Amino acid sequence: MIYEKITNRRTIRKYTSKGVSKEILLKCVDAARLSPSGANRQPLKYVIVNDQELLKVVFSTLSWAGYLPEYQPSEEEMPRAYIVILLDKNIRQNYGHDAGIATMSISMVAYDEGLGSCILGAVDREKLRGILNVPDGLDIVLVVALGYPDENPIADEVRDGTIKYWLDENGVLHVPKRDLKDIVKWNVYHTS
Ligand SMILES: Cc1cc2nc3c(=O)[nH]c(=O)nc-3n(C[C@H](O)[C@H](O)[C@H](O)COP(=O)(O)O)c2cc1C
Repeated sequence: MIYEKITNRRTIRKYTSKGVSKEILLKCVDAARLSPSGANRQPLKYVIVNDQELLKVVFSTLSWAGYLPEYQPSEEEMPRAYIVILLDKNIRQNYGHDAGIATMSISMVAYDEGLGSCILGAVDREKLRGILNVPDGLDIVLVVALGYPDENPIADEVRDGTIKYWLDENGVLHVPKRDLKDIVKWNVYHTS
Protein backbone atom coordinates (compact mmCIF):
# COMPACT_ATOMS: atom_id res chain seq x y z
CA MET A 1 0.00 0.00 0.00
CA ILE A 2 1.29 3.41 -0.92
CA TYR A 3 0.67 4.93 2.54
CA GLU A 4 2.83 2.26 4.23
CA LYS A 5 5.57 2.65 1.62
CA ILE A 6 5.72 6.43 1.98
CA THR A 7 5.61 6.45 5.76
CA ASN A 8 8.07 3.56 6.27
CA ARG A 9 10.73 4.92 3.88
CA ARG A 10 13.63 6.49 5.76
CA THR A 11 16.75 8.13 4.42
CA ILE A 12 19.59 5.60 4.19
CA ARG A 13 23.19 6.80 4.44
CA LYS A 14 25.00 3.46 4.88
CA TYR A 15 24.90 0.81 2.16
CA THR A 16 26.05 -2.75 1.57
CA SER A 17 28.56 -3.56 -1.20
CA LYS A 18 25.84 -5.02 -3.46
CA GLY A 19 25.54 -3.22 -6.78
CA VAL A 20 22.32 -1.78 -8.21
CA SER A 21 21.12 -3.11 -11.57
CA LYS A 22 20.88 -0.83 -14.59
CA GLU A 23 17.27 -1.90 -14.98
CA ILE A 24 16.30 -0.56 -11.53
CA LEU A 25 18.24 2.67 -12.06
CA LEU A 26 16.45 3.32 -15.35
CA LYS A 27 13.13 2.45 -13.74
CA CYS A 28 13.79 5.13 -11.10
CA VAL A 29 14.51 7.76 -13.76
CA ASP A 30 11.48 6.65 -15.74
CA ALA A 31 9.32 7.31 -12.68
CA ALA A 32 10.85 10.80 -12.43
CA ARG A 33 10.26 11.33 -16.15
CA LEU A 34 6.54 10.65 -15.73
CA SER A 35 6.16 12.75 -12.56
CA PRO A 36 4.28 16.07 -12.38
CA SER A 37 6.08 19.07 -13.90
CA GLY A 38 5.05 22.74 -13.68
CA ALA A 39 3.42 23.72 -17.02
CA ASN A 40 4.66 20.31 -18.19
CA ARG A 41 7.92 21.97 -19.23
CA GLN A 42 10.03 18.98 -18.04
CA PRO A 43 13.31 20.88 -17.59
CA LEU A 44 15.15 18.11 -15.73
CA LYS A 45 17.92 15.89 -17.06
CA TYR A 46 19.53 12.95 -15.25
CA VAL A 47 23.04 11.55 -15.00
CA ILE A 48 23.13 7.99 -13.67
CA VAL A 49 26.47 7.12 -12.08
CA ASN A 50 27.37 3.45 -11.54
CA ASP A 51 31.01 3.27 -12.66
CA GLN A 52 33.13 1.87 -9.79
CA GLU A 53 35.83 4.54 -9.96
CA LEU A 54 33.39 7.41 -10.48
CA LEU A 55 31.35 6.29 -7.46
CA LYS A 56 34.31 7.05 -5.20
CA VAL A 57 34.98 10.43 -6.78
CA VAL A 58 31.33 11.52 -6.59
CA PHE A 59 31.27 10.37 -2.95
CA SER A 60 34.01 12.93 -2.20
CA THR A 61 31.70 15.80 -3.30
CA LEU A 62 28.89 14.99 -0.84
CA SER A 63 28.22 15.95 2.79
CA TRP A 64 26.27 13.60 5.02
CA ALA A 65 24.13 13.85 8.17
CA GLY A 66 24.85 17.46 9.10
CA TYR A 67 23.40 17.00 12.61
CA LEU A 68 25.64 14.00 13.34
CA PRO A 69 29.27 14.51 12.30
CA GLU A 70 30.10 11.17 13.95
CA TYR A 71 27.60 9.33 11.74
CA GLN A 72 29.22 9.34 8.30
CA PRO A 73 29.29 6.53 5.70
CA SER A 74 32.76 5.04 5.32
CA GLU A 75 34.12 4.22 1.87
CA GLU A 76 32.96 0.59 2.40
CA GLU A 77 29.45 1.84 3.18
CA MET A 78 29.25 4.34 0.33
CA PRO A 79 26.34 4.40 -2.18
CA ARG A 80 26.48 2.00 -5.12
CA ALA A 81 24.83 4.39 -7.57
CA TYR A 82 23.80 8.02 -7.93
CA ILE A 83 21.16 9.81 -9.92
CA VAL A 84 22.21 13.41 -10.40
CA ILE A 85 19.34 15.79 -11.14
CA LEU A 86 20.17 18.57 -13.59
CA LEU A 87 18.18 21.64 -14.62
CA ASP A 88 18.32 22.35 -18.35
CA LYS A 89 18.24 26.16 -18.38
CA ASN A 90 17.56 26.16 -22.10
CA ILE A 91 14.11 24.85 -21.18
CA ARG A 92 13.48 26.72 -17.93
CA GLN A 93 15.52 29.08 -15.73
CA ASN A 94 14.41 27.54 -12.42
CA TYR A 95 13.32 24.10 -11.43
CA GLY A 96 10.41 25.19 -9.20
CA HIS A 97 9.12 22.14 -7.42
CA ASP A 98 9.94 19.65 -10.17
CA ALA A 99 13.26 18.55 -8.69
CA GLY A 100 11.77 17.75 -5.28
CA ILE A 101 8.98 15.75 -6.86
CA ALA A 102 11.46 13.89 -9.10
CA THR A 103 13.69 12.95 -6.16
CA MET A 104 10.71 11.61 -4.25
CA SER A 105 9.60 9.52 -7.23
CA ILE A 106 13.12 8.11 -7.51
CA SER A 107 13.30 7.42 -3.76
CA MET A 108 9.95 5.64 -3.67
CA VAL A 109 10.61 3.40 -6.67
CA ALA A 110 14.01 2.60 -5.17
CA TYR A 111 12.39 1.76 -1.83
CA ASP A 112 9.83 -0.45 -3.56
CA GLU A 113 12.76 -2.34 -5.14
CA GLY A 114 14.39 -2.91 -1.74
CA LEU A 115 16.92 -0.09 -2.08
CA GLY A 116 17.76 2.71 0.30
CA SER A 117 18.25 6.28 -0.83
CA CYS A 118 19.42 9.68 0.35
CA ILE A 119 18.54 12.95 -1.34
CA LEU A 120 21.55 15.27 -1.08
CA GLY A 121 21.53 19.03 -1.35
CA ALA A 122 24.92 19.45 0.34
CA VAL A 123 26.93 18.92 -2.83
CA ASP A 124 30.16 20.53 -4.00
CA ARG A 125 28.53 21.44 -7.30
CA GLU A 126 31.54 22.96 -9.00
CA LYS A 127 33.65 19.89 -8.27
CA LEU A 128 30.85 17.54 -9.36
CA ARG A 129 30.28 19.53 -12.56
CA GLY A 130 33.89 18.94 -13.52
CA ILE A 131 33.81 15.24 -12.61
CA LEU A 132 30.64 14.56 -14.62
CA ASN A 133 31.50 16.93 -17.45
CA VAL A 134 28.21 18.82 -17.06
CA PRO A 135 28.05 21.52 -19.76
CA ASP A 136 27.20 25.20 -19.29
CA GLY A 137 23.46 25.69 -19.51
CA LEU A 138 22.76 22.88 -17.09
CA ASP A 139 22.75 23.28 -13.28
CA ILE A 140 23.27 20.50 -10.77
CA VAL A 141 20.20 20.63 -8.52
CA LEU A 142 20.23 17.57 -6.26
CA VAL A 143 21.88 14.15 -6.04
CA VAL A 144 20.06 10.95 -5.05
CA ALA A 145 22.38 8.32 -3.56
CA LEU A 146 21.27 4.70 -3.88
CA GLY A 147 22.24 1.27 -2.61
CA TYR A 148 21.03 -1.65 -0.52
CA PRO A 149 20.50 -0.53 3.11
CA ASP A 150 23.07 -1.31 5.79
CA GLU A 151 21.19 0.54 8.54
CA ASN A 152 17.65 0.65 9.81
CA PRO A 153 16.61 4.15 10.89
CA ILE A 154 13.24 4.71 12.55
CA ALA A 155 10.80 7.59 12.68
CA ASP A 156 10.26 8.90 16.18
CA GLU A 157 8.36 11.64 17.93
CA VAL A 158 9.85 15.08 18.46
CA ARG A 159 11.27 15.16 21.99
CA ASP A 160 12.34 18.29 23.89
CA GLY A 161 11.37 20.35 20.84
CA THR A 162 14.26 19.18 18.65
CA ILE A 163 13.94 17.86 15.10
CA LYS A 164 17.60 16.79 14.97
CA TYR A 165 18.00 13.09 14.24
CA TRP A 166 19.95 11.18 16.89
CA LEU A 167 21.60 7.84 17.60
CA ASP A 168 20.50 5.56 20.43
CA GLU A 169 22.82 3.29 22.47
CA ASN A 170 22.50 0.56 19.82
CA GLY A 171 23.59 2.86 17.02
CA VAL A 172 20.07 3.10 15.56
CA LEU A 173 19.21 6.43 13.97
CA HIS A 174 16.00 8.07 15.23
CA VAL A 175 14.34 10.65 12.98
CA PRO A 176 11.96 12.97 14.87
CA LYS A 177 8.80 13.82 12.96
CA ARG A 178 6.43 16.55 14.05
CA ASP A 179 3.04 15.33 15.29
CA LEU A 180 -0.02 15.69 13.05
CA LYS A 181 -1.80 17.75 15.69
CA ASP A 182 1.04 20.29 15.58
CA ILE A 183 0.94 20.83 11.82
CA VAL A 184 -2.71 20.46 10.75
CA LYS A 185 -5.46 23.05 10.93
CA TRP A 186 -8.96 22.39 9.73
CA ASN A 187 -10.54 25.01 7.48
CA VAL A 188 -8.96 28.13 9.00
CA TYR A 189 -5.64 28.73 10.69
CA HIS A 190 -6.77 29.02 14.31
CA THR A 191 -3.88 29.54 16.74
CA SER A 192 -5.41 28.05 19.89
C1 LIG B 1 16.06 18.60 -0.37
C2 LIG B 1 16.78 17.66 0.58
C3 LIG B 1 18.15 17.77 0.75
C4 LIG B 1 18.83 16.88 1.60
N1 LIG B 1 20.19 16.97 1.69
C5 LIG B 1 20.85 16.09 2.47
C6 LIG B 1 22.28 16.11 2.51
O1 LIG B 1 22.92 16.93 1.84
N2 LIG B 1 22.92 15.18 3.28
C7 LIG B 1 22.23 14.24 4.01
O2 LIG B 1 22.87 13.41 4.67
N3 LIG B 1 20.86 14.19 3.99
C8 LIG B 1 20.16 15.09 3.23
N4 LIG B 1 18.79 15.03 3.17
C9 LIG B 1 18.07 13.99 3.92
C10 LIG B 1 17.33 14.60 5.15
O3 LIG B 1 18.28 14.84 6.15
C11 LIG B 1 16.26 13.60 5.61
O4 LIG B 1 15.26 13.50 4.62
C12 LIG B 1 15.61 14.05 6.94
O5 LIG B 1 16.54 13.96 7.99
C13 LIG B 1 14.38 13.21 7.28
O6 LIG B 1 14.71 11.85 7.32
P1 LIG B 1 13.85 10.79 6.51
O7 LIG B 1 14.12 11.04 5.04
O8 LIG B 1 14.38 9.46 6.96
O9 LIG B 1 12.41 10.99 6.83
C14 LIG B 1 18.10 15.89 2.33
C15 LIG B 1 16.71 15.79 2.14
C16 LIG B 1 16.06 16.65 1.28
C17 LIG B 1 14.56 16.50 1.08
